[in-house]
Amino acid sequence: MKIAVLASGRGSNAAALFKAKESGILRDAEFACLISDKPDAPALEEAKLHGVEYVYIPPEHQGAKISETACLKYIEFLKSRNVELVVLAGFMRILPPAFVEAFQGNMINLHPSLLPSFKGKDAIKQAFEYGVKICGCTVHFVSNELDAGKIIAQKAVEILPSDTLQAIESRVHEAEHNLLISVVSDFCSGKFQKNA
Ligand code: GAR
Repeated sequence: MKIAVLASGRGSNAAALFKAKESGILRDAEFACLISDKPDAPALEEAKLHGVEYVYIPPEHQGAKISETACLKYIEFLKSRNVELVVLAGFMRILPPAFVEAFQGNMINLHPSLLPSFKGKDAIKQAFEYGVKICGCTVHFVSNELDAGKIIAQKAVEILPSDTLQAIESRVHEAEHNLLISVVSDFCSGKFQKNA
């Protein structure tokens, strides 16, 4: 299965996927490319390190969205690489409806909370400050509503009284890596046929 990863930052989830492929866990995955909306995203370096094609496509927008023309460039690039599954792994932009429609049922997002709680930015911090005792991460289909598409899988992470925000972040990230690998593996084995 040809897979594209979209990432804006560190790229630890992208790296976890690439390493899973290299170690034979994601045998049927072919990472076609990594696209970033940030020219200096460390995620681009991760792709380079793992021999995955990488490209920066400017969002052409000041806010949290990408412009209509940038959207067409993203779609065109993904189609040119025959991408079958788009994985948003820390891609911090809201996608226009045309993008969602182009990959409906074949585009997933990773979010660091147990959705529908703590949508949006800084989800782990939100959960920590709220004082919840269990947080976690979610992989869901991308829909036109932010962090709201159909949930595919979740992993809970317990928050202990002695925990610092940093300690929780590190456990959530570890849980994310495993969850994402497991969902991508399910896609590769055909568990998710076209989903509305
Ligand atoms: C991850 O925690 C991911 O869940 C989050 O960005 C981080 C990216 O980490 N995504 C969101 O908050 C999307 N709403 P990474 O760059 O190390 O993979």
